Amino acid sequence: MPVNIRPYREKDWELVKEITEKSFKNTHDEKYLKQIIADPQRIVTVATKRQRVVGFLALHVNPKTFIAYVDTLAVTRQWRRYGIGGGLMSTAETQAKKHGCTTLILDVHVKGPITWYQKRGFTVARQRGFVKFKDGTQSKLLAKGLYWGEVFTPKKRKKTASAGR
Ligand SMILES: CC(C)(COP(=O)(O)OP(=O)(O)OC[C@H]1O[C@@H](n2cnc3c(N)ncnc32)[C@H](O)[C@@H]1OP(=O)(O)O)[C@@H](O)C(=O)NCCC(=O)NCCS
Repeated sequence: MPVNIRPYREKDWELVKEITEKSFKNTHDEKYLKQIIADPQRIVTVATKRQRVVGFLALHVNPKTFIAYVDTLAVTRQWRRYGIGGGLMSTAETQAKKHGCTTLILDVHVKGPITWYQKRGFTVARQRGFVKFKDGTQSKLLAKGLYWGEVFTPKKRKKTASAGR
């Protein structure tokens, strides 16, 4: 059964909370999650299998700085490695580009899935990121450029008979 990706709805709260609690025991808490979900500047997207929420991603877009920030990404343990995290991340990239953002950034715990992000084009932009987690660990900041323009190579002008005269 294919994964369905759609915007967060109020009735998704319990499952999103459960996924967060299980995925981020040492880093996130319910208060932080509530803030993210209530913030109108954030785009929260969920992935569902058989109409049940199995993953979600919260994105903060800032069209003034052209930077989009991934607050949280998590997939429930049973459904990991089925491409759901990758699907949510591709959706976030599309959302960021739609809002005019050229860079996607995120903070990751030192024990977090850094190689997963690197496979998807992220690099470590700063060894010390912006977040100090609940367990006292400082994050690393990862970044990815979103190339949404086209690069044109100008064609050589044809020499005309009058050229150079
Ligand atoms: C990181 C996470 C979102 C990935 O979601 P997912 O649905 O399993 O990812 P996908 O199925 O799209 O990707 C699978 C690929 O990533 C690899 N992968 C999965 N988890 C990984 C991890 N923790 N570290 C490195 N690689 C990982 C798989 O080996 C697979 O590789 P392949 O494509 O070469 O076979 C998920 O593992 C998760 O929720 N982890 C706990 C919460 C977390 O750490 N979130 C990130 C916070 S910054």
